[in-house]
Amino acid sequence: MNIVYLNGSFIPKEEASVSVMDRGFLFADGIYEVIPVYSGRLFRLDEHLNRLQRSLDAIRLPSPFVQKEWRAMLCELVDKNGGGNQAIYLQVTRGIENIRDHRFPDQVKPTIFAMSNPIAKPTDEDLSNILDNTQGISAITTKDIRWDRCDIKSISLLPNILLRQQALDAGSQEALLIKDGYLTEGAASNCFVIKDGIIFTPPKNELILGGITRDLIIELARNNQIECKEELINEKALNNADEIWVSSSTKEIVPVIKLNNKAVGLGEVGSLWRKMAALYIQYKLSLFDY
Ligand code: PDD
Repeated sequence: MNIVYLNGSFIPKEEASVSVMDRGFLFADGIYEVIPVYSGRLFRLDEHLNRLQRSLDAIRLPSPFVQKEWRAMLCELVDKNGGGNQAIYLQVTRGIENIRDHRFPDQVKPTIFAMSNPIAKPTDEDLSNILDNTQGISAITTKDIRWDRCDIKSISLLPNILLRQQALDAGSQEALLIKDGYLTEGAASNCFVIKDGIIFTPPKNELILGGITRDLIIELARNNQIECKEELINEKALNNADEIWVSSSTKEIVPVIKLNNKAVGLGEVGSLWRKMAALYIQYKLSLFDY
């Protein structure tokens, strides 16, 4: 049974419902987090909770919980859904008001919702299995049509949805977004470009979401003497890449082997991807007992 958390109660998903007057429903006035769970333990929880706090601060919504309370609620939800490997989705909206009005309500009682989803990527395979069986994906480039505060993990995902669907309609799996000639990120991922053994990724600013997976990749690269630069990447550099990767909490690190129907580098999963994927898996294994 899938148990969700809604405003203080743990209940079966089928029994959970939210008012049509919720500002999340009416205005997408809220924020979210996606936190992977391995072996029953929330991965990089402090980093996710810090980003949650930054998103709440950015939309001027006082946090309904202190970190200890978030942690306790999320751990209980993981346990109630059987531990193991999961992805926890957490959403906080500016709650319910009886009239529809854009301005903030006078009294705000946030709606807090969290659910468990199956994790997209199998995580309990052995290392060589993952390295041997990863095929890589294809991507398109397209105009970044989003707003100027993509650092906020907002539930207002309509542009991201349209962009991802545009990629799927073109027979690809992800859209890499270009703003004023420069790469920002993927429609639901961060992006890395590899050239001559160096990893490049766009710097953190208000035009991209500061991914937790992105930060870990940078940390692992630097701890293992792989050069990694956070700098602007123009379209030409993207098109001349030896390797391209996208990253997210649920998909981890995914090699892009085709861009706009053309091979990226040799058109196969690259050697630096193999190295980084191995480091990532080893890091997870060092934290959790599979
Ligand atoms: N998306 N950029 C965007 C626009 C994203 O939607 C995501 C993740 C990322 C990667 O962030 P992280 O490494 O912290 O997951 C970057 C999540 C998984 C989602 O919306 O489901």
